[in-house]
Amino acid sequence: MTERDENDALRQSLRELLTGEGPEEPADRAAALRTVLEFLDRQYYLEAEQVIPDPDYDRLFAELRQLENEHPELLVPDSPTQRVARGLADASATVAHAVPMLSLENSYNAEDLLEWDRRVRGLCGVDEVEYCVEPKFDGSSISLQYRNGLLDRGATRGDGVAGEDISANVPVIGGIPKTAAFDQLGAALVEVRGEVVIDKAVFARMNQSREAVGLPRFQNPRNTAAGGLRMKDPAEVAQRGLESFVFHLGYAVNAAGEDLLGATNSPFQTHSGNLDHLLNLGFRVPGEAMGLCQGIAPVIAFIQQWELRRDDYRYEIDGMVVKVNSLAMQRRCGATAHHPRWAIAFKFKAKQASSRLLRVEYQVGRTGAITPVAKVEPVSLAGVTISSISLHNQDQINEKDIRIGDLVKVERAGDVIPYIAGVVVEARTGSEAPIVFPLTCPSCEGPLSRAEGEVAVRCTNAECPAQAEERLIHFVSKNAMDIDGLGKDIVGRFYQEGLLRSIPDIYKLDYTLIEQMKGWGKKAVTNLQQGVERSKSRPLFRLINALGIRHVGITTAKALTRHVNGLNDLIGLDQEALMQIEDIGPVVARSISEFFANPRNQELLAELEALGLNTRTLAEEKPGQGVLSGKTVLFTGTLQRLGREQAKEVVERHGGRNLSAVSANLDILVVGEKAGSKLKKAQEIGSIQVMTEEEFLAFTSELR
Ligand code: IVH
Repeated sequence: MTERDENDALRQSLRELLTGEGPEEPADRAAALRTVLEFLDRQYYLEAEQVIPDPDYDRLFAELRQLENEHPELLVPDSPTQRVARGLADASATVAHAVPMLSLENSYNAEDLLEWDRRVRGLCGVDEVEYCVEPKFDGSSISLQYRNGLLDRGATRGDGVAGEDISANVPVIGGIPKTAAFDQLGAALVEVRGEVVIDKAVFARMNQSREAVGLPRFQNPRNTAAGGLRMKDPAEVAQRGLESFVFHLGYAVNAAGEDLLGATNSPFQTHSGNLDHLLNLGFRVPGEAMGLCQGIAPVIAFIQQWELRRDDYRYEIDGMVVKVNSLAMQRRCGATAHHPRWAIAFKFKAKQASSRLLRVEYQVGRTGAITPVAKVEPVSLAGVTISSISLHNQDQINEKDIRIGDLVKVERAGDVIPYIAGVVVEARTGSEAPIVFPLTCPSCEGPLSRAEGEVAVRCTNAECPAQAEERLIHFVSKNAMDIDGLGKDIVGRFYQEGLLRSIPDIYKLDYTLIEQMKGWGKKAVTNLQQGVERSKSRPLFRLINALGIRHVGITTAKALTRHVNGLNDLIGLDQEALMQIEDIGPVVARSISEFFANPRNQELLAELEALGLNTRTLAEEKPGQGVLSGKTVLFTGTLQRLGREQAKEVVERHGGRNLSAVSANLDILVVGEKAGSKLKKAQEIGSIQVMTEEEFLAFTSELR
């Protein structure tokens, strides 16, 4: 897959997760959420692209956290819920931050803040907390290191643990002194965090001059600042009008290496005091836009005032940040792996534009789910023209009472995936028409139905062409048969041209004909042919996943293969038998047994077998033959010989199952170097066999 295909696939998966489609099985859903959140982090921190509005990001994040809470076995150490956002550029030099650059937790209303204040008071054991409130700059994060009073290094946020070295560019950014007498405060080495921004007026002028000379306009100050920081030539960086505000002293030690933050007799006792020091040393700090508040009530009032004044401020801000002022109390609050508990961001409502809703079109997904898509008069929102907006499902339309002809409020915090936030009811003329969900499928006119407890309305016709096309797209996709040379667009084109109508057609393609088609050459055809051929010998679980059985994703497909010798064995299994298999409940069992009981599907399976596809469980998929048969294994600490994925493969190869958390269900814990809490927990449980990596390799006869 090219990087572009991969990004398209990720965006598709993102859309599915947002609309309630996508995998339903917890393990697959968690995996999809993780992949998508990683993609969003990467776009945000590396490409300066905010793909979806913060509330949607938070919704996905919360869904993953909830899944992990409900199914602790799904929690993996590198889940986005367990760490600062990741995603580093490959090329440029990276440097480690002295302290991780954590993110902030987000809040959207007064209730969120009240709840947070309750938690903070509980953690600090006081009735009222002094808070510092300041703007949340919508720019690009930086970290600055001063050694013995000299600006030593500048870095971007990167993955929060290490960032890109931008030392060469830092001196041309306004508001960053090259020397700062931290020694007067007793500090030999400090790290200061801030945000690089561009004055809105400067940004507008910059765009005017660019247009005058025929250059494309910059999209927004944030992207321009983020891009500017990474430019090779500092002289060019200087042209971008970058300025910086600092808002956090993250690290300060004396010559002996002792931590000064909050230490007795040190000048660093409060956050506001730290900002005063930074101002005196020549930095630019939030200053006039900052407020010190006793308790949460004045915090809320201060934020409300600022939300109204937001557009008058010289810089783009997307919210306010509330911080516990006392460093001692901050320490008592501590931090999660993702954010400090002593600070919270309050996000302002996203920017809006209004536009006329012209009509609604309906798209049909692989499982027949019908997604309504609003077509609006093209409208520009923060530099991007929007004409199509997903309405997700019927419930959302009803909730917001959206009608055709309405003036709708379109929002998006970032670049893509806009949404309709509401309707301008006052602008109604009476001629608006309700959105009438179709009674039949827009593609095949087949009947639609909505299952109890589901939001999606689905087309129930198994022959529906739109579903058939989407099913083909799923069949060839990376997680399924992974057919090289046959991406989404090509499947679409072949489908339209009648070359590809059903799954078996993939294995009966007329390559001579394709070679004569526009845009196809010998090389591309050979590549396609090889991709199709290679897919025939894929492991059985891939084929099962590729069939697109509802509620069956990779995890269930793998579990199924472990219990049968081949695809045909599944035909005879009833619900009872299926429910004996791990992780399969009644809903999944019914879906599987219905699929295999259907004569049409049985014909399909026979045809695929006749076409030469592997329908047998391969040795590597089958347990019961290795020394780890029936055993569960978990790795912890740094392994010396095996990579994590390799280690997991060894387990599967020898018939075992990988777990991701220590519990009484765990049989073997393999400890690498620096094993920590997991080892302790395993020892407490007592029944778990602990092995070193060497012992594990010897046990599985993999020691070579
Ligand atoms: S405090 C340990 N204060 O928002 C806490 N962050 O979503 C350090 N940001 O990466 C962050 N204005 O780049 C803080 N007044 C402010 C901020 C601010 C903007 C950015 C910062 C951070 C992001 C978190």
